[in-house]
Amino acid sequence: MAEATEEKKKSWHEEHPDEPVIVFENVSLSSAGHTVLDDISFQLKGGETRILLGPAGVGKSVLLKLANGLIRPDSGTIKVFGEDLSTLAEQDLFRLRADIGMVFQEGALFDSLTVRDNVAYRLNEDHVSEEEVDRRVREALRFVELEDTIDKFPSQLSGGMRRRVSIARAIISSPQLLLYDSPTGGLDPITSTTIIELVIKQRDVSGTSALLVSHRLQDAFTLATHRFNKEASKMEKLPKGEVEASTTFLMLHNGKLIFDGSTMDLVHSEDPFIREYLA
Ligand SMILES: Nc1ncnc2c1ncn2[C@@H]1O[C@H](COP(=O)(O)OP(=O)(O)O)[C@@H](O)[C@H]1O
Ligand SMILES: [Mg+2]
Repeated sequence: MAEATEEKKKSWHEEHPDEPVIVFENVSLSSAGHTVLDDISFQLKGGETRILLGPAGVGKSVLLKLANGLIRPDSGTIKVFGEDLSTLAEQDLFRLRADIGMVFQEGALFDSLTVRDNVAYRLNEDHVSEEEVDRRVREALRFVELEDTIDKFPSQLSGGMRRRVSIARAIISSPQLLLYDSPTGGLDPITSTTIIELVIKQRDVSGTSALLVSHRLQDAFTLATHRFNKEASKMEKLPKGEVEASTTFLMLHNGKLIFDGSTMDLVHSEDPFIREYLA
């Protein structure tokens, strides 16, 4: 059937099936005399989506920035795609980040650039041809169902649309790892669900590994209990009692990682803080 199809580049995970995409080992970080993260260890396996929960100010955004090499820990080791970030020069970090898509808290679009130029940002930096930029921008915008906004400016879009544009910008380079920082922050529940649906679509269509910060439990559980049905091209709920095995949880509290496990383990946790958080 597919005789002359372009050979798809193997993902890092396909080439290293037994190695995790992210490894944190005993990572600590202090800021202005107070401990933000205290001896944090966890892994993100290939194809996995890990949802990072925790109260405001606990260090969730800091943890994502550490994973992206934007900040460095005081101690401990962080490996991404098998590379120890502390040993990488700025130039090598750039190369590594080309495989990581980041959706920043609040979207962080450039207000002075059109949707097209916001989404194309990385490709323009890489000097990709104009035709290919156009093709890929349209493809990414189609994925988030916003192709008709290509010539608009962020100020002309709703909050939910801006968030979709920032997802398109993050996936334009077909990253092997996505870092989402509170992708539904500041959005109403209905709009939030449309954003979570995109996260699920990306997870189930591309199988991209992801670390996602969530401040809203509803979103976290939607991710764990739904999948994207490719034939029907929409999200659907898993049968009662089933959860998505590749979607798991982490929870931070007072600088410590107090939970690392499956949806079911989280729901049945006896930890008083977790029980109150979930209630
Ligand atoms: N670049 C940084 N380096 C060190 N500490 C930081 C940095 N940015 C924020 N912090 C501190 O980390 C703590 C957690 O912040 P943050 O990660 O933004 O919390 P949240 O869980 O709400 O995302 C805050 O006390 C903040 O002052
Ligand atoms: Mg944050």
